Amino acid sequence: MRDNAALRRCITVVDDEPSALDILTRAAQSFHFDCQTATSAESALELFERQPTPLVVTDLRMPGLGGVWLVQEIKKRWPNTAIIVVTVGAEEDALLQCMTAGVQHYFLKPVHIDEFHHALQATWYAHLMRRENQRQKQHLEWIVHKQTHKLRTTFFSAITSLVRTLEARDPYTSGHSLRVCKYAMLLADYIGLDENSKKRLRLAAKLHDIGKVGLAEGILNKPAKLSNDEFDLIKEHPVIGERILRPIIHNRAVLSAIRSHHERFGGGGYPDNLQGEEIPFLARMITVADCYDALTSSRAYRAAMSREDALQIMHDGMSTQFDPHLVPPFIRMVRDGKKTAKLR
Ligand SMILES: [Fe+2]
Ligand SMILES: [Fe+2]
Repeated sequence: MRDNAALRRCITVVDDEPSALDILTRAAQSFHFDCQTATSAESALELFERQPTPLVVTDLRMPGLGGVWLVQEIKKRWPNTAIIVVTVGAEEDALLQCMTAGVQHYFLKPVHIDEFHHALQATWYAHLMRRENQRQKQHLEWIVHKQTHKLRTTFFSAITSLVRTLEARDPYTSGHSLRVCKYAMLLADYIGLDENSKKRLRLAAKLHDIGKVGLAEGILNKPAKLSNDEFDLIKEHPVIGERILRPIIHNRAVLSAIRSHHERFGGGGYPDNLQGEEIPFLARMITVADCYDALTSSRAYRAAMSREDALQIMHDGMSTQFDPHLVPPFIRMVRDGKKTAKLR
């Protein structure tokens, strides 16, 4: 029911006895309600489908499917409708079923106008209050949603600039995460990854090395070979990254892609020594993009490799380091990209 319809003083009156229907309708009209009427549960439902009203008054005992059926159908399909039932008494089971379905009021025949008036007013005001509560609840939910979105955006831009600052400490890794993100997304397009997975991949690729934030500068850009202890420290960055992001990123696929981007397809990677398809798919994609960028960037201890040398190394690492289903499309993509200048 649309908002305007829900606030119009109109009512569906249902009774198979013409005199009772007449009394109820006249009474409702005298209390400034617009009325539509039906003489059976089935015709009432048809009428209601065409023109729902915020209030329904229905007799319980009618030929055909009857009042209880009507009440249950309306409550199932239009749960916000307020319903009053009219009964001749001695229908305790039927009344109980109506109350269980959410009926607000009932009263006994013969109809007393005062009693009917009271039930109509009380039900109408309860209906208006419920609408108002719902409206306020929706408004609050909208504010919370907006604030959460704002907070997440602020958090992500802060963390993205943190990654940038982190990488800028070392001229050799400057821009690494953004390039990894670019390669991973190009590969995602190339293999036709679905939109939801692409969103997760973009986020994970951009933040995959955030766990390096706590590493000393001396380790990050050390021109010589790392000691075992230093390498052990570096190996913690996927787990630290996952831990930093867990309070704000609730998507398991993003977190596990960050955690597992240094796993090796043939086993022997870190932090969990996973193998093959145990390694989350998005992590396998990031591994490919990550290594390509590492190989084609200069390091303190070596010059950047040529594109073809890097691709050869990746080809040689199929099945041991990389997912063998991802390397061939990546190689094709890089070679195609050379023509379109999408890749260096
Ligand atoms: Fe990493
Ligand atoms: Fe990386």
